[in-house]
Amino acid sequence: MVVVISGASSGLGRELAVQLSRQGAHLVLAARRLELLDELNAQLGGGHLCVGADVSQPQDCVRIIKKTQERFGRIDTLICNAGYGQVELTASTSPEDLRQIFATNVHGTVDLIHAAVPIMKAQSPQNRWRGQIMIVSSAAAGRGLPYFGPYAATKAAQKSLAEALRVELKPERIAVTSVHPIGTQTEFFNRAESLSSLRLQTPQRKAWRQSATKVVRKMIKAIEKPRAELWPFYPVKFALLLGFMFPGVADRIMETSRRQIQLLNQS
Ligand SMILES: NC(=O)c1ccc[n+]([C@@H]2O[C@H](COP(=O)([O-])OP(=O)(O)OC[C@H]3O[C@@H](n4cnc5c(N)ncnc54)[C@H](OP(=O)(O)O)[C@@H]3O)[C@@H](O)[C@H]2O)c1
Repeated sequence: MVVVISGASSGLGRELAVQLSRQGAHLVLAARRLELLDELNAQLGGGHLCVGADVSQPQDCVRIIKKTQERFGRIDTLICNAGYGQVELTASTSPEDLRQIFATNVHGTVDLIHAAVPIMKAQSPQNRWRGQIMIVSSAAAGRGLPYFGPYAATKAAQKSLAEALRVELKPERIAVTSVHPIGTQTEFFNRAESLSSLRLQTPQRKAWRQSATKVVRKMIKAIEKPRAELWPFYPVKFALLLGFMFPGVADRIMETSRRQIQLLNQS
């Protein structure tokens, strides 16, 4: 099968490439750091296609899909994984930073899908589906987080888009799966801190993270047998449900988190 992975240079995208390659998939690896993609491709035997691309640029998303079609002639799974967070108070986030995070996490997702769907629609079905779109959102899609407001908003937007797409594309036999990890051991948090002068990470928070290997194993199961949503740490769904029913209680819990981060940045 042919799998396109945006954000394949590190973290979940890189781990997806490693595990899918072991299973014999033909991969398209996209990210801005082309040198890391080339290194990864060499490690995986050199048979995959690497595309240096910035998904916040619509023409780059079109190029990723065009190159995939030229090389492989089909797309079985498109994994919209590229994304980042930025530690910042919501009201202090500059308009430019806000636009950039939406351009990458949200527009980068939709622009890839826009380019890929006509190709998937024209394919003959394999195992019931013509293709699958997997959108890597977050558990943060279910609740705005202090110091991570714009990021959580992009993840909520991705979840909402996935819900609409899932129903719209079902008659075309294109499956849509959204993925909602909790904190996972990748470059994500170091990057999120590096984009501002604020810190977020404490030893307790680090201890809670899932391994990328475990999350990706579950993602691959959801590729083998498409489903609507994947929550790699299932109990978080119940916490979010309680937050939905009792938003005041959820606010108080989040207030504790906000104070911890504030203290961390005063020390
Ligand atoms: N780690 C977590 O705790 C966690 C939890 C929930 C959801 N997620 C989501 O999981 C996805 C993957 O993140 P990760 O945890 O694997 O973090 P990561 O290790 O920082 O990887 C992020 C990937 O996205 C790519 N990327 C970022 N901006 C890009 C752009 N403008 N154009 C193209 N590629 C871009 C990066 O590549 P380049 O820098 O080379 O472009 C990198 O390959 C993200 O969407 C994130 O929101 C992560």
